[in-house]
Amino acid sequence: MKKTSILFSLLFAFTSLAAQADVASAQKLADKYAIFAKHINPNSTGLSAAEGKNFFNRELTIKGKQVACASCHTSNPANEGKHIVTGKPIRPLSPAANPKRFADIDKVEKEFTSHCNDVIGRDCSAQEKGDFITYLISVK
Ligand code: HEC
Repeated sequence: MKKTSILFSLLFAFTSLAAQADVASAQKLADKYAIFAKHINPNSTGLSAAEGKNFFNRELTIKGKQVACASCHTSNPANEGKHIVTGKPIRPLSPAANPKRFADIDKVEKEFTSHCNDVIGRDCSAQEKGDFITYLISVK
């Protein structure tokens, strides 16, 4: 009996977590990155939307081309993006515009690793990811 009720409350906790996939869950994720960032660099003064914005728009030269996160996700992350290679539309990244964003931590980590490697040639740091999400949350 006791075991079952623990299982039920766990299940309930997971479902309610999935249901509130929106700005609040993005904020929770950003808070986690802030904790990691502080562990890695004790001088970290917290997350910054301004740094996240710089990071998002910063162009790097990849195979002779200037590419930024904004190249596909546009300079306004609340807008629909467009893939620079395939031309396919990309739903907005900003959780206020697209509540499905930042709901699934595994997916977010996977996308970050893949895109960061594509654009900056390595995975992004916890500070960069946290700043980036903080910026996205600030865009309505
Ligand atoms: C070449 C095009 C392209 C570039 C450049 C790009 N992205 Fe993406 N991004 C995509 C596509 C395609 C998706 C997946 C489609 C979707 O989820 O709507 C995506 C999804 C994501 C997601 C998933 C969020 C979620 O929870 O669903 C994150 C985070 C992300 N990108 C971050 C970045 C960051 C950070 C950069 C810059 C370092 C970047 N992207 C650069 C095309 C791009």
